[in-house]
Amino acid sequence: MIYITGDTHNTEDMSNLSSKNMKLCCMEQNADFHAITTAIILGDFGLPWSSDCTVDESGIHPTDHTDRYLLKWYNQKPFKILAVMGNHDNYDIIEKLPEVEMFGSTVLKVSDNVFYLKRGEIYTIDDKRFLILGGAMSDDKAWRKPHESWWEQEAWNAEEQTRCMARIQECGRQFDYVLSHTGATRGIACVFDSTDGSIDATVAFNDKVDAMITYKKWFFGHWHSDWGYEHFAESQYVPLYHKGIAL
Ligand SMILES: [Fe+2]
Repeated sequence: MIYITGDTHNTEDMSNLSSKNMKLCCMEQNADFHAITTAIILGDFGLPWSSDCTVDESGIHPTDHTDRYLLKWYNQKPFKILAVMGNHDNYDIIEKLPEVEMFGSTVLKVSDNVFYLKRGEIYTIDDKRFLILGGAMSDDKAWRKPHESWWEQEAWNAEEQTRCMARIQECGRQFDYVLSHTGATRGIACVFDSTDGSIDATVAFNDKVDAMITYKKWFFGHWHSDWGYEHFAESQYVPLYHKGIAL
């Protein structure tokens, strides 16, 4: 079983993945917590956060105390942890992570139990087909430092977008689920009045994708809202924060 939840922001919202929180969410959905084999974070996983972190074929080796503690906690979980890329993620290190084969393609290895899902990739997890998007514009970047607390790679470059579109065409444009960090405009409208110019380049790209594919549900984080948890049955768009959906 797959469990999908929102931004964890390094240790800030790590309780999203506490057994207590997950068990409560599972209980409300009549799902068995012990059947979870994979947990997916919808961006802003934020580990590693500190740039003082070496990388080799076994993943990251944090020297930062908090990162090391958090990774140890995640490594002990009885399920795999997969993270979509957000806008509070250290892209400089993510880009150096080793690729390993998983779910019919490749993922980026943080540790034996923790992986980043690549943007624009298509994976089959538990017989379900996922399209992975990711990224968002940081509206707080003026207060963050490039390559230390903000990374320009949060926005897709043109080449990435073209490659993603080509993959979608090749795969028949049909998916079970879409996972992204910020949403498409129609999804964001569930939680936020986006007529004030908050449509950034990533949202515009998500809108393009939204118009060309079919899918059952589109999960996203970023907006720090659990609206999608409360309206899961009737909504195609599922924004999540602390709560999690069992699939
Ligand atoms: Fe966030």
